[in-house]
Parts: sequence; C-alpha cells; structure tokens
Amino acid sequence: MDFADQFPEAEVIGTDLSPVQPGVAPPNLRFEIDDCCSEWTYPENSLDFIHVRCLYGSIADWPAFYQECLRHLRPGGYIEHAEFSVAPKSEDGSVTEGSIFDQWGKFAISAGEKIGKTFEVEAKMKGWVEEAGFEDVTERRGKWPIGAWSSDPKLKELGRWNALHWEEGMEGWKMALATRVHGVRQSPVTTDF
Ligand SMILES: C[S@@+](CC[C@H](N)C(=O)[O-])C[C@H]1O[C@@H](n2cnc3c(N)ncnc32)[C@H](O)[C@@H]1O
Repeated sequence: MDFADQFPEAEVIGTDLSPVQPGVAPPNLRFEIDDCCSEWTYPENSLDFIHVRCLYGSIADWPAFYQECLRHLRPGGYIEHAEFSVAPKSEDGSVTEGSIFDQWGKFAISAGEKIGKTFEVEAKMKGWVEEAGFEDVTERRGKWPIGAWSSDPKLKELGRWNALHWEEGMEGWKMALATRVHGVRQSPVTTDF
C-alpha cells in the first residue's frame, strides 16, 4: 500500500495465499489470492519490480521460485527480498544455549526441516538469487532488536515495534508449528459447571 501511494502511476498487485489483505486500498493497487509456488499466470517479461517479504517456512523450492520471478520480470527489472533470522542472535552473549530464544530458533528451524520448507532463508537467499541468474545482486544486513534496549534512537523504535510483533505473533507461530508439524496434541478442554 505504501508503494502504491508512493508511485500512483504504477499498477501494483499484492498477492498472498490467504485473504489477509485490508479492505481499503489505493486505487492503483489490487490484491489477489494466489499461490506463488504454482505456475505464475502473469505474462512473461511483464513486471518491473517484485517485492517479497517474510516467506520463510513457505517455499519448498526457492531456486524454482526465483527463476519464476526472473521469467516474469522485464529485462532490467528488479527483485527485492527481505527476510529475518527466525533464530534471535545477540552480540553480548545474552542469547545463550538453552535460553528461550535459542529454544525457539531451534524449534522453528527443525519444523522447517520436517516439512521441507526452510526457515533459514536469510542465510541462503543471496546464493539462490545468484544461481537463478540475477545480476548485480547486493545484500544488506541489518539489526532488528526485540525490545527498546538499544541506545540508538532508530533501533530503539524498531525494537519497540518488533517487541509488539513478537508478543502478538508468538502464540500463533508456536501453536501452528507445535500442532501441525511437531505433533503436539492439544488437550481436550473440559468445563465443569
Ligand atoms: C510471515 S507472513 C508475511 C506476510 C507479508 N508478506 C509481510 O511481510 O507482512 C507469510 C505469508 O506468506 C503467505 N504464504 C505462505 N505460503 C504462500 C504461498 N505458497 N503463496 C503465497 N503466499 C504464501 C502466508 O499466507 C502469510 O500471509
């Protein structure tokens, strides 16, 4: 939506497998429910720019996905792909072996291994993009704190938003992987009146 607002002359298409899109959107943006792993129905060489974000754990064959992107970009077009490490890391050693963050990272990564859809995308994506045949590939790595602990004002604000992201997201992330992948069964709820 920000992109569509910023470039009102562009035709913008937002896709996702689930109907998660907001009801109100800029006039030059349309949303489509689509599986990005199926053969794309857009004409070849028709897109100027493809933006992909946070598809960790969703794609079985990343090289095939990037080749589909390349096939649909116009010559000279761009792809931008943003991912984060699902396993939190620390520079001061506070994410220790066995800590809750360490456990979460291993839990998520092992779920990806079980279903054949890796969560370790940020570590591998540059190589896959290059293998697909893209040229002038650049990688920008950044820090995304969880919580407002940083003394840097920008990272502090990012950390505040990210703490909300983790607090709101964690129950769903954990429940989905525990019950759908790791075989954890929920206990039946019994209520005595
Ligand atoms: C972590 S969310 C990221 C959502 C959004 N891209 C963002 O960055 O805010 C992952 C999204 O990928 C979607 N997804 C998973 N597999 C997909 C597929 N094969 N094709 C299209 N979307 C898919 C899910 O429905 C979910 O909304």
